Amino acid sequence: MTSDRILLTGAGGQIGAVLTEALRETYGADHVVATDLKALGPQSGPTEILNALDAPALDELVRKYRITQIYHLAAILSATGEKDPMWAWNINMTSLFNVLEVARQREVAKVYFPSSIAVFGREAHRNNTPQFEVLIPETVYGISKVAGENWANYYFRRYGLDVRSMRYPGIIGYQSMPGGGTTDYAVDIYHYAVQHKPYECFLRADTRLPMLYMPDTIKATLQLMEAPSDCLTVRTSYNLAGMSFTPEEIAASIQKEMPGFQISYKPDFRQAIADSWPATIDDSAARRDWGWQPEYDLDAMTRDMLYHLKLKY
Ligand code: SER
Repeated sequence: MTSDRILLTGAGGQIGAVLTEALRETYGADHVVATDLKALGPQSGPTEILNALDAPALDELVRKYRITQIYHLAAILSATGEKDPMWAWNINMTSLFNVLEVARQREVAKVYFPSSIAVFGREAHRNNTPQFEVLIPETVYGISKVAGENWANYYFRRYGLDVRSMRYPGIIGYQSMPGGGTTDYAVDIYHYAVQHKPYECFLRADTRLPMLYMPDTIKATLQLMEAPSDCLTVRTSYNLAGMSFTPEEIAASIQKEMPGFQISYKPDFRQAIADSWPATIDDSAARRDWGWQPEYDLDAMTRDMLYHLKLKY
């Protein structure tokens, strides 16, 4: 039986909900404490209501469960953040500092902090964006992730805290809904398709963005967290890639399975955010250091998404 005890913030979110279950399979249900701002439904392991801005409450849970690893997933995403930048900055940074400080002060051995392709801006190379690239993000979310990556690196260098991070692209899964991101269309579109509804996309037809299917996301996260510390050469955040596609390509992929599916385009403020992000990512450091290799391409993901969502509706 493992001696690791894990706490997740944002465990009710798009990635958190799926990652909680995966961690429980690996570490045992009782060893994984799922926390979120709102009460989580009945689960196979412990749950707690936690506002990650509340440092004493976080500290109490870390002590109560003798937590050894924190996965800090709570954050305000790119599109929502633009509606109230100071609010988003406060939530993203205060919660991260609370996690880093409690980890430094208590016996927490490892911290996971997801970063994002939102760290890049228009000055970065759009294609095959390198690991060590100029980072001039254009959203408050991206700024908070660049700052967060640097604080992760700082806590590692200064205090030896084993903080690990990767830059998630847009994440697509059938189990949960995303909240407030620029890549959310790539989840919504499947829900419309299985309900035989036409989809109006908030990005232009030719907007190419990096994306990743949920099983690959979970695999990458667990692989990074289980890798030997001395294999990790990047202590800010690893570039990570799965696939890259445009709205018209994902629509065509759905039409191979559902020929009647229809899409139209009505770009909104999220188009400018997407235009500042990379189209494709160079993730060779992740492949070299901890053996990253994605399994799903667009058509394999489409078949799996449609299969599972058809069961759901
Ligand atoms: N999916 C995220 C967003 O769109 C990217 O990290 O905000």
